[in-house]
Amino acid sequence: MYEIVRREVLAEDSDLFEIYAPEIAKKAKAGQFVIIRINETGERIPLTLADFDAKKGTITLVALRVGKTTHLLGTLKAGDEILDVVGPLGNPTEIDNYGRVICVGGGLGIATIITICKALKDAGNYVIGIIGARTKDLLIYEDKLRGICNELHISTDDGSYGHHGFVTDVLKKLLDEGDTIDIIWAIGPAIMMKFVCKTTESYKIKTIVSLNPIMVDGTGMCGACRVEVDGKTKFTCVHGPEFDGHKVNWDLLLSRQQMYLNSEKLSFNKFKEKIRG
Ligand SMILES: Cc1cc2nc3c(=O)[nH]c(=O)nc-3n(C[C@H](O)[C@H](O)[C@H](O)COP(=O)(O)OP(=O)(O)OC[C@H]3O[C@@H](n4cnc5c(N)ncnc54)[C@H](O)[C@@H]3O)c2cc1C
Ligand code: FES
Repeated sequence: MYEIVRREVLAEDSDLFEIYAPEIAKKAKAGQFVIIRINETGERIPLTLADFDAKKGTITLVALRVGKTTHLLGTLKAGDEILDVVGPLGNPTEIDNYGRVICVGGGLGIATIITICKALKDAGNYVIGIIGARTKDLLIYEDKLRGICNELHISTDDGSYGHHGFVTDVLKKLLDEGDTIDIIWAIGPAIMMKFVCKTTESYKIKTIVSLNPIMVDGTGMCGACRVEVDGKTKFTCVHGPEFDGHKVNWDLLLSRQQMYLNSEKLSFNKFKEKIRG
């Protein structure tokens, strides 16, 4: 059992959980994830490590409430326990001194890009952060990222804060200004990562994305997380989660993410009925 030592509501529908998991915290690196199962009858869901602290023995997860399991998770509070937390899984981000790097985080991707920004900064890079959300109230971790990045740019879809528009507009403007950018990371909804990659393709700047297909076992056995990269089948849990975004078959990823939409809706509706009593 894994105890939740801190729980915060970060924004509407986004919860932070700091969990006591010393063995995972000791080994964790930027870019990795865990798979959790809340209780014996629960499904397994992957969540990226938003932070880890080997001294305290804790890991931090940030989850957007989208369906049954993330809503069930959202009912837990400090002191409650999670049955299984497996990890760290996936390959860590390849951290190096690249020079000038841009890290783009969209929505919940903002939480997961923090460890990468921090590791890149510690390795001597000039880190430019671009974060975006639908509206100001959904924007998380601005202060934390201001403390890490050399520059931070913000966009909101509705113009309630920062640039009115998408992260891709801000990215394109920065690239057009002509400063050399050596490498880009983009983490967020698949559709956002797809359009970041479309934007950066013409500038020929390597763009790394963290893919989020449906996962089950997280160990390369079930094949649920297969994606197509450079025309080859890859299992995101063991070969990724990070890949060269210019080589990803985005349409396949987007369609595979929708495969169980009807069953997910059914299961969420049953859960809501149960909660209402
Ligand atoms: C490597 C990885 C890291 C992730 N990190 C985070 C994170 O840090 N924070 C966060 O909020 N979300 C993260 N996700 C997505 C998260 O796993 C899904 O939102 C969650 O599984 C949804 O479960 P649900 O029952 O609440 O919703 P459901 O209604 O079951 O599903 C809603 C949508 O979530 C996706 N999904 C459903 N089940 C899974 C599954 N087993 N594996 C992956 N995606 C699924 C599907 O696209 C689905 O349409 C990550 C996904 C991957 C693959
Ligand atoms: S989740 Fe089963 S192979 Fe990746």
